[in-house]
Amino acid sequence: MTEKKYINKGAFMTQTGTMVVVDVTNIEQHVTDPVMQEKMRRQLEVSTPVAPDSVLIQVEYVGVCGSDVHYFHDGRCGSFEVDKERDIPFMLGHECAGTVVEVGANVTHLSVGDKVCCEPSVTCSNCELCKSGHYNLCENVVFWATPPVQGCFMKYVPFKADLCYPLPETMSARAGALIEPFATGMYAAEKGAITVGNTVAILGSGCIGLMTMLACKARGASQIIVCDLEDVRLEKAKELGADYVINSAKEDPIAKIFELTGKRGPDVVFETAGSKFTIAQTAHIARRGGTVVLVGMSAQEEINYNFGQVMGKELTIKSLFRYVNMFPKSIAAAAGGLAPVEKIATHEYSLEDIQQAFEDSINKKNEVVKAVIRFD
Ligand SMILES: NC(=O)c1ccc[n+]([C@@H]2O[C@H](COP(=O)([O-])OP(=O)(O)OC[C@H]3O[C@@H](n4cnc5c(N)ncnc54)[C@H](O)[C@@H]3O)[C@@H](O)[C@H]2O)c1
Ligand SMILES: [Zn+2]
Ligand SMILES: [Zn+2]
Repeated sequence: MTEKKYINKGAFMTQTGTMVVVDVTNIEQHVTDPVMQEKMRRQLEVSTPVAPDSVLIQVEYVGVCGSDVHYFHDGRCGSFEVDKERDIPFMLGHECAGTVVEVGANVTHLSVGDKVCCEPSVTCSNCELCKSGHYNLCENVVFWATPPVQGCFMKYVPFKADLCYPLPETMSARAGALIEPFATGMYAAEKGAITVGNTVAILGSGCIGLMTMLACKARGASQIIVCDLEDVRLEKAKELGADYVINSAKEDPIAKIFELTGKRGPDVVFETAGSKFTIAQTAHIARRGGTVVLVGMSAQEEINYNFGQVMGKELTIKSLFRYVNMFPKSIAAAAGGLAPVEKIATHEYSLEDIQQAFEDSINKKNEVVKAVIRFD
């Protein structure tokens, strides 16, 4: 049975660089191709009652992630590609928070009216990786807005209830939408085993670098140095508590970090730019016996790296893919005031202005650090 109570609306990428916002009643006015119309109708369809293990969420905020921007601009992100025939119209978005409006028959931990944020990966629970607690590496994962899986830039989203985490009263849905990227920062800081008194360098002050910084601060890092090429992003890092910032376009980050750490080098270096240059810098920056955590994903898979530095300094190199069991801790850290994640969102747009949000994210990197979409 399809209830008419929920008039769903959402944003679809109809080709690279173009986003169309429709609701179920006006698709024909915006799109002429009947195949596209039908695909949109199917994606926006809200069926009630919801599946027994699911809830229906009325979405309030969805963050614009770097991966969304890549799909929008280039039609691809890393090895994932938007296939014209299979995926278009493609709905982006995976950083979501809102209010529960319907609860499935088997759901006991959520009620109508609860504010939640979503962990956007449905994993199989059966494979070796899921069973051993490395569910982020499950090969059968279904992850929002990763072709061929559609995302959540729509007003009503049905989702698995066990992946919806309640937000405390004090936390806004806007902050809730930032928990997903914060979970990556929290996982990075955990991988780096950051503890009280650590010195840290973070290469790349985009959303992920800043989230990593907040997580390191929450874990007690004492000296945090952040590098980027854009001054506005460095100013944001300063505002959020970076001890030093370096514009790597103007100053040699390796020499400067060496100087700032008393010729020792930081305990842990996080690479959060996804650039072959910053990846290469990490081995030179970390202290003897230190740790490098690779977070950024470079478009180029093979990169020159100085393993002489790794061996000579006995470095530990770690990497990570998304996050594991990070949502509850991330919500707790953000809600408790240890990590003001909301401040990372510099720009807010209504769903109707989503095209502008994406264009600004691409063309105004010196202004927009992180955009979020609001659903009215
Ligand atoms: N490992 C994971 O699970 C995971 C999860 C999310 C994102 N990521 C990756 O993290 C990276 C960062 O994501 P984001 O959303 O913050 O992207 P972003 O583009 O907003 O941030 C990257 C920042 O790096 C800066 N930068 C680029 N080249 C630099 C250089 N040579 N020196 C210093 N700074 C430089 C840019 O100016 C920018 O501010 C991306 O590669 C993304 O794919 C990884
Ligand atoms: Zn994301
Ligand atoms: Zn699995």
